Amino acid sequence: MSTPLSLNRQSFGDPADAGNVLTREDADALLHDWVKNDRLRLHMQQVGALMGAWARERENLGPEDQWRWEMAGLLHDADWDQWPADHCRRIIEELERRHVDPEIIRAIASHGPAHFGVEPQTKMDKMLYAFDELSGLVHAYSLMRPGGYDGMELKGVLKRLKEKTFAAGVNRDDITDACARAGITQNELIEFIIAHQRG
Ligand SMILES: [Fe+2]
Repeated sequence: MSTPLSLNRQSFGDPADAGNVLTREDADALLHDWVKNDRLRLHMQQVGALMGAWARERENLGPEDQWRWEMAGLLHDADWDQWPADHCRRIIEELERRHVDPEIIRAIASHGPAHFGVEPQTKMDKMLYAFDELSGLVHAYSLMRPGGYDGMELKGVLKRLKEKTFAAGVNRDDITDACARAGITQNELIEFIIAHQRG
């Protein structure tokens, strides 16, 4: 199926660039240069932090891999603010130009399979897809709670998830699909986000 945002390609980056990352300073500079919208920047930082935490705690990966995961999360929506019609294509081309690890670029390219036409394959791909929508819904919920994230419970998030009008832009079908692909339950994912995500 072809959509307006279809990337129409399945191969990303150069295998010779495997292991290459941006420094945290360079990644932050790119984030701030490209994304002027504070809410979007916060979303990307939140997804980046969740990816890094998951790599450390659930995949038992070392600091270098934790940063690869975090970088994918941190930059996944970098072009959405200024170039929505070109979403994903721009950041992919930028990271290719900077000789970034193909696995990081591929994770970004597959964070919305229904839009970009790229299936998540690795665990990093799948977790980025899984965290993306649900992180946003949990954050929206925190904003309507007097205590924010403090005392937030699974059942409150589940209730909001069932209300179709709450954070209506969050695609519930994508969340179900992403959890199934990642082999984790929705509840497990929500608990992890509640425990690790802060405003
Ligand atoms: Fe996102």
